[in-house]
Amino acid sequence: MPKITLLKDDKEYILDAEIGENILEIALANDIEIQHNCGGVCACSTCHIHVLDGMENLSELTDEEEEQLDEAWDLSLDSRLSCQCVVSGDAKVKVIN
Ligand code: FES
Repeated sequence: MPKITLLKDDKEYILDAEIGENILEIALANDIEIQHNCGGVCACSTCHIHVLDGMENLSELTDEEEEQLDEAWDLSLDSRLSCQCVVSGDAKVKVIN
């Protein structure tokens, strides 16, 4: 079972995940709020995260996601949209918004 380490507001959470879930779903299932104005359909950039470790264990960045990320504040090379990151293994991420 993958473990997702999630950093938010100076707190660190270690969450159990199922393969095939996305990071937004995993956070919400554990009562950790990540903004998700479009409801997780890749139509905003409010669910922005930085992937600190385990990018290889997340589904690949799509053109659609890259376009939405252009709107995100604090964009970096490890930026992703949490609703578009389907997990296949361990990862460590930081919530930006
Ligand atoms: S919730 Fe809107 S892109 Fe993820």
